[in-house]
Amino acid sequence: MDREAFQERFGLIGESAALKQVIDKVVQVADTDITVLLQGESGVGKDVTAKAIHEISNRKHNDLVIVNCGAIPEGIIESELFGHEKGSFTGAHEAREGYFEKANGGTIFLDEIGDTPANVQVKLLRVLESGEYFRVGSSKLRTTDVRVIAATNKDLWQLVQEESFREDLFYRLDTVKVKLPPLRDRPDDVIPIFRKFVTEFSAKYDSVFKGFSDEAKELLVSYRWPGNVRELRNVAEQLVVLEKSQFIDTDKLQKYLKGRQHSGATDNLPVLADQNERNKNGAFGNDDQKLIYRALVELQSDIGDLKKMLANFLYSTFSQKNIKALPQNIQDEVNKPENSGMDIDIGNAAEEDIGVESYAEADISEEETEDDAFSEFFTSDDIPSIEKTEQFLIEQALRKYEGNRRKASEALGISERTLYRKLDQYGLQ
Ligand SMILES: Nc1ncnc2c1ncn2[C@@H]1O[C@H](COP(=O)(O)OP(=O)(O)O)[C@@H](O)[C@H]1O
Ligand SMILES: [Mg+2]
Repeated sequence: MDREAFQERFGLIGESAALKQVIDKVVQVADTDITVLLQGESGVGKDVTAKAIHEISNRKHNDLVIVNCGAIPEGIIESELFGHEKGSFTGAHEAREGYFEKANGGTIFLDEIGDTPANVQVKLLRVLESGEYFRVGSSKLRTTDVRVIAATNKDLWQLVQEESFREDLFYRLDTVKVKLPPLRDRPDDVIPIFRKFVTEFSAKYDSVFKGFSDEAKELLVSYRWPGNVRELRNVAEQLVVLEKSQFIDTDKLQKYLKGRQHSGATDNLPVLADQNERNKNGAFGNDDQKLIYRALVELQSDIGDLKKMLANFLYSTFSQKNIKALPQNIQDEVNKPENSGMDIDIGNAAEEDIGVESYAEADISEEETEDDAFSEFFTSDDIPSIEKTEQFLIEQALRKYEGNRRKASEALGISERTLYRKLDQYGLQ
């Protein structure tokens, strides 16, 4: 299959050299059994690419099993992946096959592989190397024949440096790496992809799209797209529905370019700043408006967190069968690929339910070194305010993890993004 045919078949639009390179590589390796690691920010097209690889591989007549390693609570991920025997833990009323068994003969797509807990990484390495694994609670060695596609929005090598990802597993996965560049690095692709979405949504909503002013088009291309193609798709859908039959100028467009907060950003507005300069009477002209705008963005991201939390909760407490009984829109949320990363820890309840040990064993020896600071803070006569306590805990966590924000946020049980926000709020470095 050549590149054009591939793009046509899977609806992957784009003319940029970067995308062409990606597709050429994917086409080259698709019909082998080689492990492929897809790397790229959220929304760049990792899922579509993984599905496409399976679809043109020799395994297409067997299952493609998609596993979001970041969304499954730590306590049950091993049994989800490898299955379990009846009675192997409280609540294991019957034996169940795991995803690796289900994918036998087909492909397994391990999404958000960088979020796999350490104890499972060892087992993954084994099954990737030899196809061998054990069900939880069984000593019978089983084998499976799967093709592995993995994806991550993190820099796995960085995780290896931070010792949260095994080096041997890294090398095992790193055979063929396909880097999907963020949309902002391939501005040539923006308009063609946008056109495709507008055409699709116009048909779906029976709506007419009147087109853009030149400046609006320019803004669309120069915008940072932190949510990449997924965000572009949302913007297209909103424009088609909410600006039906309207000619789109920069003012109209700006309402939809919210600059969703992304990892590392402490300010949601940098992208729009340039445009504001050019657009003195624009929507974000003064500080008050910026403040309101910022509050709205935060509210939006909090709602996002809540949805994610609910999705994770349903995922962890309901069996797949029960999830299928939920209303379709809730199911969609639960199955959304971006409901990953498990940056809100709600898994404990589910772990206790099935009697699996929690892995949250504190490292006592390390914690003792922080004892002084803690006793000093808490033994004074005054009760510290919640804000002060929060600030203190954040400082301690950052100190303990030597400024590593990912680890600190994990320890605090908040998302990395929330941590960034709090650092900003308290003016901490
Ligand atoms: N090049 C592209 N052309 C058209 N649509 C794309 C392209 N890349 C991604 N998409 C669409 O963008 C959305 C997000 O892609 P997805 O594969 O879920 O991203 P990821 O898994 O990297 O977060 C999907 O709706 C997908 O179909
Ligand atoms: Mg994805």
